[in-house]
Amino acid sequence: MAPQNRLITLNNGVQMPILGFGVFQVPEDQTEQVVTDALAAGYRSIDTAASYGNEEAVGRAIKGSGIPREELFITTKMWIQHTGEDTAKREFDNSLRRLGLDYLDLYLIHQPLGDYYSSWRAMQKLYGESLIKAIGVSNFYPDRLVDLIRHNDVTPAVNQIETHPFFQRQADQQLMREHGVQIESWGPFAEGRNDLFTNPVLAEIGSAHGKSVAQVVLRWLTQRDVVVIPKSVRPDRMAENLDIFDFDLTDDEMTRVAALDTGATVFFDHHDPAMVEWLGGRRVD
Ligand SMILES: NC(=O)c1ccc[n+]([C@@H]2O[C@H](COP(=O)([O-])OP(=O)(O)OC[C@H]3O[C@@H](n4cnc5c(N)ncnc54)[C@H](OP(=O)(O)O)[C@@H]3O)[C@@H](O)[C@H]2O)c1
Repeated sequence: MAPQNRLITLNNGVQMPILGFGVFQVPEDQTEQVVTDALAAGYRSIDTAASYGNEEAVGRAIKGSGIPREELFITTKMWIQHTGEDTAKREFDNSLRRLGLDYLDLYLIHQPLGDYYSSWRAMQKLYGESLIKAIGVSNFYPDRLVDLIRHNDVTPAVNQIETHPFFQRQADQQLMREHGVQIESWGPFAEGRNDLFTNPVLAEIGSAHGKSVAQVVLRWLTQRDVVVIPKSVRPDRMAENLDIFDFDLTDDEMTRVAALDTGATVFFDHHDPAMVEWLGGRRVD
């Protein structure tokens, strides 16, 4: 039997699979089948968001799978439009209803934008009522993260940020470690940008282990204790992406991957006012 997924222990003792499955950009009408396939492949952690427009389909797949709820780890995220204390509480209820669940494993503030301090207060209450096992944030650069921690009672369990071979976030991870915040990678493959899947360094390391570039990337991230949630609509790739626990990268290979870092996003900068304007105006329902 293939070696099993590893569990990471969050700052409140909750355990989360280090390897999960993301559904960003999976069309609503395909999501139920895709998540059904992912659960059948062996994924137990699913990452969605209100803004992905596919929570209901994720919920149908969960229900249809028959997998006991306690074996699953379900994450969703609150969009900017719904920040604020009362709005956040309502939006949490809406996500729970769309997912068909009575609690969440992880609820994240999707972006460090809007009235997210009020949202955090609402989330702290929901966490206190055991309606969420762990609360966290996403796309928080270190200054925003430290400020949120400094002025609130509950330290985020997770910060989900863009992390891949071209934007490695080593210093950010160190800072999060010092504050007890678990780093979670979004876009582990940079969505294929910069020709990631044909990168010669990653391909050469892969051939030394009989593994694909995707497997090298996921192994490299999880060996750094980064939680990963790769997305694929293809069952063959779902299985491939899970099959990363039977090999180790050497120190030399880790160093070679580290040299691919550009230190910059390959998507967009959350400090860019035009992007802040665009994200803040985006409506999800
Ligand atoms: N918090 C945030 O702001 C945020 C932002 C972005 C993403 N996320 C989360 O992070 C998850 C992952 O990131 P992502 O979906 O943006 O991108 P990603 O996982 O880096 O890349 C997905 C792309 O890689 C392809 N792929 C997957 N496995 C492959 C393999 N083994 N070989 C070759 N190609 C492969 C997929 O194609 P196919 O589907 O055709 O296989 C898809 O085009 C998302 O689904 C979402 O849950 C969060």
